[in-house]
Amino acid sequence: MEPVRVGVIGGGIWGNYHLLAAKHLENESKARLVAVATRTEQSAAKQSSAFGIRGYTDYRRMIDEQDLDAVTICTPDHLHREMTLYALERGKHVLVEKPMDLTTRGCREMVDLAERKGLLLQVDYHKRYDPYNIDLRQKVRAGKIGKPYYVYAYMEDKIIVPTQWLKDWAALSSPFWFIGVHKYDLVRWITGREAVAVLAHGSKGKLSNLGIDTFDAVSAWIEMEGGLTCTVDVNWVLPAQFEAVVNQGVRIIGSEGMIELDGQDRGARYAFAADGMTTPNLGAIAIADSVFGWKEPHGYFVDAIKDFLLNVLFLKSGGGLVQLQDRYPSGQDGLQVTRLAEAVEISIREHRLVHLSEMP
Ligand SMILES: NC(=O)c1ccc[n+]([C@@H]2O[C@H](COP(=O)([O-])OP(=O)(O)OC[C@H]3O[C@@H](n4cnc5c(N)ncnc54)[C@H](O)[C@@H]3O)[C@@H](O)[C@H]2O)c1
Repeated sequence: MEPVRVGVIGGGIWGNYHLLAAKHLENESKARLVAVATRTEQSAAKQSSAFGIRGYTDYRRMIDEQDLDAVTICTPDHLHREMTLYALERGKHVLVEKPMDLTTRGCREMVDLAERKGLLLQVDYHKRYDPYNIDLRQKVRAGKIGKPYYVYAYMEDKIIVPTQWLKDWAALSSPFWFIGVHKYDLVRWITGREAVAVLAHGSKGKLSNLGIDTFDAVSAWIEMEGGLTCTVDVNWVLPAQFEAVVNQGVRIIGSEGMIELDGQDRGARYAFAADGMTTPNLGAIAIADSVFGWKEPHGYFVDAIKDFLLNVLFLKSGGGLVQLQDRYPSGQDGLQVTRLAEAVEISIREHRLVHLSEMP
């Protein structure tokens, strides 16, 4: 079977995981990492030489010149839509980073085009690939906690994320768009329910004082189908001294039980003279050491990307999209999450409960 020929758009912090996942599947002859497109000559040259592939500064040229089966997109959020549409229009399967787009209308365009073309459109909601979350979902779906009553989900990033990592575009995002979407997708995937209404509050001050005009924290109370309620609290101003980049977790309570998952502290602690105390992230366990040797990377960050490439391989070998249904975070999932995130923005701006029926 011919491997999946893939091009990556965006070679920044998260683009590294896309490149790494494809490179790893290349070792198993399941994928062929062909090219990368980034914004500047400098970053294109850097990733091109690190991964031994062709580098472009115009993603359109990469798609037009290379014979690709699939494109993965990990550029700033506001660019996802145009890049996805371009790739789909030219017959490429697409993995797009979360959030799929910042507008529900944009997501609909993307979903419609993928459907018209019969192509796979997958969104990188990787919390679904965390084995603890998979177990949690199975137990909830098996009725172990009875009738679910309420969910509490939180995700908190260190302040270096908006101030250093995403400094060029953090003001175009927010803690809800950047990390809240992960938690909302997780809750709807665990419970199989969609939001009915949302009441949200946003706090500003710390980042705006540093010249980044966006929220520090967002709290959203979500009424979901069947009377379930869900609170999602997110911020990206955790002190730089915190022991991990991300603090996160989820609790779900029902009539017959409850499950609590601390997604940050899984019981492993490191203390090194150079770094102080840290805790490893299960998303990227054993990745740092493997980057340069292309040894096997582990963790749900790369598993989610590899899953997309394996889905494309399945399609390339004659499989159908219908057989993959409900087995990956789809464009339709991405659309529903963006719809809620847009409603969160309206609720914050207008200080009111927003019914999802008001959304496009
Ligand atoms: N799945 C996750 O948990 C996760 C985590 C972090 C980031 N992300 C998402 O990944 C995306 C990228 O985030 P990041 O942290 O890598 O950002 P980043 O700023 O580190 O990287 C952005 C990349 O996009 C490239 N780029 C910008 N404009 C471009 C253009 N016109 N053509 C080609 N390349 C262009 C830049 O050169 C850079 O390589 C965002 O959508 C973000 O939300 C997802």
